[in-house]
Amino acid sequence: MMEDLKKYQKAEKLKKQREEAQQIPWYYDGLERLCDRIHPGKQLVKITDIKDLSYDTKLFRFVSVNPNKPLAPFRAGQYIGLTVEINGVRTSRPYSLVSSPNQLAYYELGIRKKQDGFVTPYFLENAKVGDIFEVTEPLGDLYYSPLFHGKNLVFIAGGCGITPFISMLRDISEKALFLNVSLIFGCVKEKDIIFRDELENIADRRSNISVKYILSEPDPDWKGECGFITGDKILNEIGLIKDKYFYVVGNRPMYQFMKEEMHKLGVPQHKVYYEAFGVPDDITQVMGWPEEIDKSKKIKISVKYRKFGKPETIEFDALCIEPLLNSIERTKELALSIDNGCRSGQCALCRTKIISGKVFVPPEVTIRETDRDYGFIHPCVSYPLTDIELDLTLT
Ligand code: FES
Repeated sequence: MMEDLKKYQKAEKLKKQREEAQQIPWYYDGLERLCDRIHPGKQLVKITDIKDLSYDTKLFRFVSVNPNKPLAPFRAGQYIGLTVEINGVRTSRPYSLVSSPNQLAYYELGIRKKQDGFVTPYFLENAKVGDIFEVTEPLGDLYYSPLFHGKNLVFIAGGCGITPFISMLRDISEKALFLNVSLIFGCVKEKDIIFRDELENIADRRSNISVKYILSEPDPDWKGECGFITGDKILNEIGLIKDKYFYVVGNRPMYQFMKEEMHKLGVPQHKVYYEAFGVPDDITQVMGWPEEIDKSKKIKISVKYRKFGKPETIEFDALCIEPLLNSIERTKELALSIDNGCRSGQCALCRTKIISGKVFVPPEVTIRETDRDYGFIHPCVSYPLTDIELDLTLT
């Protein structure tokens, strides 16, 4: 009898200990709220202001739709994915935040109209004050990291690639951080230099920040530097390579070009961060593209997905020269959107299981080894070469 009582008491004690261990600590609620605030996933924002930055670029200011749900904080240099619906096609594009991270009353994006683009011509012509959009939480690895980047920074921007640097310069300037920054800003013509007044104002006020413009097709009255941003021009501007950390932001062709220039200068790979926007304009011109593939070739795509919880399969044709993600978004019957952020193969948000078929991926895109090993692709940068089977029910 006594033995049984002791066993019972021991079991009760253990049960109590287990229950206590499982109890949610008092600070958990606060932590959960903080995590939601930092990583809300998606946010709803409303345009409150639109301003011309140049003949083809506009500045859009967004506030949170819900006054009780402030915008997620971000690090200067990060971007958000902006979702738009154009003629029934729901798609999104990444845009760098240009506003300062030191205030979260609003986000600002500088968006340039891309000739023959799908989203920017529509957005610049149609978006108006009061319109509501879904955006991702801030994403991306382009931001200043004191431990790895040191105190001497070189910002190299091509065209609209200036946008993340505007946010970074605002941050550095507002916090009076003691960092030496050389900004080298390449544009086609003088009229393409956006944020010029602000850049010059910052450079005038801060002796540790310098700004240099280089124009590739200047008008005859341009007195500044001309041509492309070459290694020699970078060296002229910054003097020494040693102890410098480089950030390069621009389009795909610039990315390739700068990689070679950095190599010529002897800049170690770990001392440069590249951020390339979007996909190549013409994938058939990219190194490694199989020449025997006919550009107009239609590929059969089969996608397994869940509709109201039940697995369904849909088939449609796609062009081999278009990323799979775009073809999927274009298929209205699918009415499906795959989560995505960078649309450049960097964030891995769009990872999708490929069951069969072969895709082409631009050589500079690095896919995580585990994704490759387990048969996942990034449809934002994958071009179908053969018939493809995807399974969206497996993540
Ligand atoms: S959207 Fe970022 S990897 Fe595809």
